[in-house]
Amino acid sequence: MNKSSVSISVTFVLLFLLACSVPVSGFNITRLLNRFPEFSVFNGYLTKTRLFEQINIRQTITILALDNGVVPSITGNSLDVIKQILSAHVILDYYDSAKFRKLSNKPTVLTTMFQATGDAVREQGFVKVVLNRRGQIEFGSAWRGAPFTSMFVRAVASQPYNVSVIQISSPIVVPGIGRYNLPPPAPVAPEPDVAPVPAPTPLADTPSPADESPADAPSPDADSPVPTADAPDAPSSAPHPSADDEEDADAPSPDDEEDHSAASRGHIAGAGVMVAGLMSLYMAF
Ligand SMILES: *[C@@H]1O[C@H](CO)[C@@H](O)[C@H](O)[C@H]1NC(C)=O
Ligand SMILES: *[C@@H]1O[C@H](CO)[C@@H](O)[C@H](O)[C@H]1NC(C)=O
Repeated sequence: MNKSSVSISVTFVLLFLLACSVPVSGFNITRLLNRFPEFSVFNGYLTKTRLFEQINIRQTITILALDNGVVPSITGNSLDVIKQILSAHVILDYYDSAKFRKLSNKPTVLTTMFQATGDAVREQGFVKVVLNRRGQIEFGSAWRGAPFTSMFVRAVASQPYNVSVIQISSPIVVPGIGRYNLPPPAPVAPEPDVAPVPAPTPLADTPSPADESPADAPSPDADSPVPTADAPDAPSSAPHPSADDEEDADAPSPDDEEDHSAASRGHIAGAGVMVAGLMSLYMAF
């Protein structure tokens, strides 16, 4: 190898290393969702609306995803409106299921990407989320008085603490934005803190508004079985507040002892210096 070919290969290696270190975005939401065919329609809309670009440049984000059976409930809208609705399903913070389960039973308000567009009025750009008394996580628009329209179904994927994808049962209805072709709420056992449920009618019999094929209606229902009384999933993740308290309670005592002994060592040392001083004074005479 002569000198020039060495320098060419060194240059090549340097260029290669440079190319590797160019900070592209942290993740690729399109590729992430491609692994889950049940979200292909949702993923397709993230591409068509170009929302994926705004998602990929974020560093901490949570996507409330709708599966293929549920997306048709918003696709009667123009692409611009679909973009607005979907951007209200992108939370500008990282929330995985563990973090959602630590929420209180008071609604927590989270900022969405719709707020960041500047198109949102009042609370359209915010969602509220709550851990209800059954241990279920519910979502709704933070618009004053808006109902909780969506339930947590499952954690789909996450890259802590940057991107999290959570499946929800149906779209979050943003008041004043678009039309929603939703099945009637599934009959739920009486629950004091949930909006009154209309008379429970079997889903298949209800006449659904015009433009949706009836074939779409049963699938969301089948995907999200009505919670039964004997299947609470809350207790497993119950917080353990006592651990922290104990640590806090234990902590001061060793410190105090340390302080005392350090202080007494100081006294002894001080006394030693004084004795030595007196000795030398004495010797001088
Ligand atoms: C993840 O988020 C952290 C802090 O928010 C950020 O510093 C980091 O660059 C992000 N990582 C990726 C791969 O985006
Ligand atoms: C993200 O992934 C998709 C699908 O794999 C691909 O077509 C696209 O080029 C990727 N984008 C970037 C910026 O890597």
